[in-house]
This record gives sequence, C-alpha cells and structure tokens, in this order.
Amino acid sequence: MLPLTRRTLLTGSALLAGAALLSRAAPAAVGQGGAVRLSAGPARVNLVGKGFPDTAVWAYDGRIPGPELRFRQGDTARIAFANTLPEPTTIHWHGLRVPNAMDGVPGLSQPPVPAGGRFDYEFPLKDAGTFWYHPHVNSGVQVAHGLTGAFIVEEREPIRVDRDLLWLLGDWRLTKEAELAGGFGHPMDATHAGRIGNTVTINGAVRDSVPVRAGERVRLRLINAANARVFALDFQGHAPQVIALDGQPVTPHAPPDGKVVLGPGQRADLVIDMAGKPGEGFDVVDGFYPRMAYRLTRLSYSGEAPLRDSPLDAPIALAANPLPEPDLAGAVRQDVVLDGGMHGAMPKNAGPRGPFWALNGVAAMGHQSMGHHLEPLITVKRGQTQVTAFVNETGWWHPMHLHGFPFRVLSRNGRPAEHRAWRDTVLLGPRETAEIAFVAEEAGDWMLHCHVLEHQETGMMAVLRVTA
Ligand code: C2O
Ligand code: CU
Repeated sequence: MLPLTRRTLLTGSALLAGAALLSRAAPAAVGQGGAVRLSAGPARVNLVGKGFPDTAVWAYDGRIPGPELRFRQGDTARIAFANTLPEPTTIHWHGLRVPNAMDGVPGLSQPPVPAGGRFDYEFPLKDAGTFWYHPHVNSGVQVAHGLTGAFIVEEREPIRVDRDLLWLLGDWRLTKEAELAGGFGHPMDATHAGRIGNTVTINGAVRDSVPVRAGERVRLRLINAANARVFALDFQGHAPQVIALDGQPVTPHAPPDGKVVLGPGQRADLVIDMAGKPGEGFDVVDGFYPRMAYRLTRLSYSGEAPLRDSPLDAPIALAANPLPEPDLAGAVRQDVVLDGGMHGAMPKNAGPRGPFWALNGVAAMGHQSMGHHLEPLITVKRGQTQVTAFVNETGWWHPMHLHGFPFRVLSRNGRPAEHRAWRDTVLLGPRETAEIAFVAEEAGDWMLHCHVLEHQETGMMAVLRVTA
C-alpha cells in the first residue's frame, strides 16, 4: 500500500511546496488549582492540506494531535479530563511511572469514563523525557480517530540546544475524500500487521517540508502514535545522535544502520546538528517496509547565514532518571511466548473475529482493551526484580509494551543488547527473542500488551500483578 500523498488525492494539480511552519502546539488551558483541562470529543480538522476536505476525527481539545502537555521533572501533573465522545474512554499516560489508580486502564485501574463523564488524573512526575497519552478503551478505533498527544517532562537541567522540536507521527487510513476509512478491527488487519494507513502525518498534517537553519542544533522528539505502522527514519545528509529511547536517557549513539526505528508506542529523542548549507534541502525517508519507502518530509534550509560555523560544542548526554536498577542475581524469571497470527498457531478458541494471538497460550479477548476479565498471567512481589524473555514465535512484528515499569533490554536473540537501554516498549521482529529486566516497584494490576492495537484487541495482552 502506497502512502496517500496530496498528488494521489488531487490528481493533475500542482503540488504546493510551501514550507509548512511547525508551530508549537498552544499550551493547554490551566484552570483553578493548577489543573490542566483536557477534553476528548469529535472534531473536524484538515490533515492532508489546503484544498482538501477536512476529516471527521476524535480529538483532545479539538486538535490533532492533542495539546502538548509540558511539565518539569518533580512537578505534579493534574489533568481534569472531560469526555465528550459518544462512548466511554480513559487516558493512559504511556511510559510515565504513575500510581496504579492513574494508569487509565478501564476495569483494571479505574472505571471507564462514560460519555459526558469526567475524571481527574493526578500524579507526580518522577522521570523527565518524551512520553505520550492516548485512550485505553476501544483503542484501535479511538487512537485511529486521532486521540493522541505528547506529554513532555523537561529535565531540571536540560541539555543545550537551539530548538526543541516534536514530531508526533500519525498514520491514517483515509478514503479519496480524506474521510477515515471504516473496517476497524477487520480480521485481515488483526491477523496480519494491524491497521496500517495510507497517510502519514507529522503533528497532524502532511508536511512537505520542515524549515531549519544551517548550523543550528535541534533536539527532535519523535513519537510513534500510529496503530500499527513501524517507522525507520533516515535523515539523509545528517548524523543524528540518539539521546533517549522511550523517554529514558541512553548513551548517545548513532542509530544502527543510520535508521531510527520506531514501533507503535515507541519514542526517540535525537540531537541533530543542521550541517547543510543555506538554501539546501534533505529528504527524511521512511524505509521500514521493503519496496515501500517514501519521503516523510524534507529538511528545508532557510537562506539565513549559518547560526555558527562549526557544530555547537556542548554535551548531549542526558542525566539518568531515578529508576530502580534491576537486581539480576536475585531476579525471578517468567518468559512470555508470543504466538498466533496468519500462518501461525491460532488460539484454540479462535473465531471469525478472534482471538488470533496468544501470550503463553492464553488468548485474552478483553472487552475493547479493558482488562477486567483477565486473570494475571504473571504475579510478582513488590520490590522484586523480574527477568522476562519475550519469545516471538510468530512471523510478525510486535512492539511489546509494559505499563508501570520501564525495563532494561538485556539481550536480543541471546546476544547482549547494546546500551542495555531502558524502554517501555520493545519491538520484536519475526521469530526474535528479547530479554528484559525490571523492578516491580508499585503494587497493582498492570497491562502487558502488543502496541499494534489490532493485535492487542485480538488476544495479545495480559495482566502483570504486583502484590504488596
Ligand atoms: Cu500506550 Cu497499554 O498503552
Ligand atoms: Cu503484535
């Protein structure tokens, strides 16, 4: 499937190549008591560009993506949420270490917020980094309708850059009229790679180009908010350094093979020195799917004189977050085997709408991403270090996400993982095994699932119970 471009939508007409300004999202409204007001509801927005029809979406505060929520490490986030959607929802704060009752999983950590209902979220911000928020009810539908937003926690002492940019990557399956295509949860998607779209947006719009200035140093926060699409971004002509993964600082390094790979749910923070000359342009190409590479956007240099002659000489390593270090010697071990999907071993109870996937042979058909029918797959004591190998016995990619506890990736296919990065979502290739370790520091029931939302909703989820 080729990504839908304006060219394919507007056949025969010239492509407008104006430099799209990546304006910073307006700050969220702060009301009484310092709470940020946030609502979810229907809206119409222009995704594809001028001269194209608006798309009926569901949005936080009427915007795609939702308002960028920005706090500082050590602050307390208070979000007064109002649901004006025609159905229940919740908000999950993806990657943030929040108390269990604030985790946004209906039936597991809170009741669903009914249409017309409200819920106050409040949690301390232990970690700095790039996080995001999205619903955890009927996720495959609600996220595909646009309910996504960035949650940025600034370091107390940030690294020095000239600009801090955010690209929240969205993936939409649109009709020729730029309306959302139906067929949510179709078995053809659920048994394969999920609902992959045909239109990729950066901060809610197709962007022909992104303006940059020669010599500047940019921190680029990337968030993959797609239902199912995996990205592998190649910043042609540039040498990005990865400084954080899933919000957690990592030893700065060049992305392997020069490509920044992001599975659904994952983030990467990059430092990019704009090494081109005034007036030049460089493509940013997404080449994850063989033979379907396309230009995501273009870094378009202004004619201004370079900001400086040689790259900024300032450290780019971020200070670590205060995460509890896994005690590998005292760890308990529980592996999780992923099975199912097209050409795989379908669960015994598979019907025409699923389940199609299983974790350790258990195919959870949660009611629309709700966890309340799920017996825990894993039970562990609070404070315990757990080591888990995710063993992917399927022929498909799976970004496995654990709520509550960032984990270190120890190894892949038996080989020590470079950087032992902290993550909250680990992307497994077909037949790949990844071993992770974490400290179960908060009691409660926590979700563990594939972030391809059509996989999650057809069996690929489970509950991790941490007992006090
Ligand atoms: Cu971002 Cu349970 O998910
Ligand atoms: Cu999956």
